[in-house]
Amino acid sequence: TRTPVNVTVTGAAGQIGYALLFRIASGHLLGADVPVKLRLLEIPQGVKAAEGTAMELDDCAFPLLKGIDIFDDPNAAFAGANVGLLVGARPRTAGMERGDLLSANGGIFGPQGKAINDNAADDIRVLVVGNPANTNALIAKNHAPDVPADRFTAMTRLDHNRAVAQLSKKLGVGVDDVKRLTIWGNHSATQYPDIFHAEVAGKNAAEAVNDEKWLAEEFIPTVAKRGAAIIDARGASSAASAANAAIDHVFTWTNGTAEGDWTSAGVISDGSYGVPEGIISSFPVTAKNGTFEIVQGLDINEFSRARIDASVKELIEERDAVKELGLI
Ligand code: NAI
Repeated sequence: TRTPVNVTVTGAAGQIGYALLFRIASGHLLGADVPVKLRLLEIPQGVKAAEGTAMELDDCAFPLLKGIDIFDDPNAAFAGANVGLLVGARPRTAGMERGDLLSANGGIFGPQGKAINDNAADDIRVLVVGNPANTNALIAKNHAPDVPADRFTAMTRLDHNRAVAQLSKKLGVGVDDVKRLTIWGNHSATQYPDIFHAEVAGKNAAEAVNDEKWLAEEFIPTVAKRGAAIIDARGASSAASAANAAIDHVFTWTNGTAEGDWTSAGVISDGSYGVPEGIISSFPVTAKNGTFEIVQGLDINEFSRARIDASVKELIEERDAVKELGLI
């Protein structure tokens, strides 16, 4: 029998946590034949609710779920972790400046990065979901000098999936007919969903759409502002779709992308496409043998260049701000 994979989930008592844990336990994160142990991290006020969720997980009698432990100490929560899903974060509240937001999150993701460095398993793979995801991932990475930098990633898969859904609707095709779509840059309103290299049922997506006005004025803003639209409609932020994207991200990372296709993920830049080295930016990526690789050699047209640069500029500003605050 296989040794269970230790999956540490932070913010386990939150709304994404509630949608995420059951899918991890039912085998969707790593595969239907991979047993898992859950290690839940919460702040002390969240522990009781996490215990309630753990009771419900017990009540599902999931055959793959081999244990649940709940912690309020990151060092204990990340002990032996093979996968870390960093969901808990400090949200922006009314009147909060960017510096305050980054500082508050630095106080979470710095110590968690160090806890990962000191306690996680050698094969640890980290996905940061909590916002600002790219910069939180950068902070965590900087506190984990002994972990290979490419093990720290940020989630833009929800943006990717949103873009696939919008494009498939526009063209009247199935979502599985859409390949090679890319989210570039920051997981924020500046992100750039790029269909110029995408294929739809074997045809170039931009040519199939053949409508730059729709692209600029509908598609891109709809994808970039989808989070706000969900809040307006639901009265709460995206949770099940965010959890689903986290599942997709890790499943793809560990099980690979299909031949000829790619996905989007926030990964550490090696300087590709003019994105400064060391920044965690969304790129087109393939996955093989548990490693993401940035797709190389794509032609970037003027339309795309301006939008990639704008989002990367925001990432540079966030990096400079956390540097100034002494968080990295
Ligand atoms: P939530 O507020 O329902 O839950 C967050 C949970 O994190 C709470 O239970 C809280 O007690 C816990 N928490 C806070 N600080 C913690 C710490 N230091 N250690 C452990 N747990 C801690 O929020 P929700 O809806 O679950 O969202 C979580 C995060 O995910 C937010 O930052 C949100 O902005 C982000 N998000 C990211 C998306 C993406 O595409 N990257 C999409 C949707 C949400």
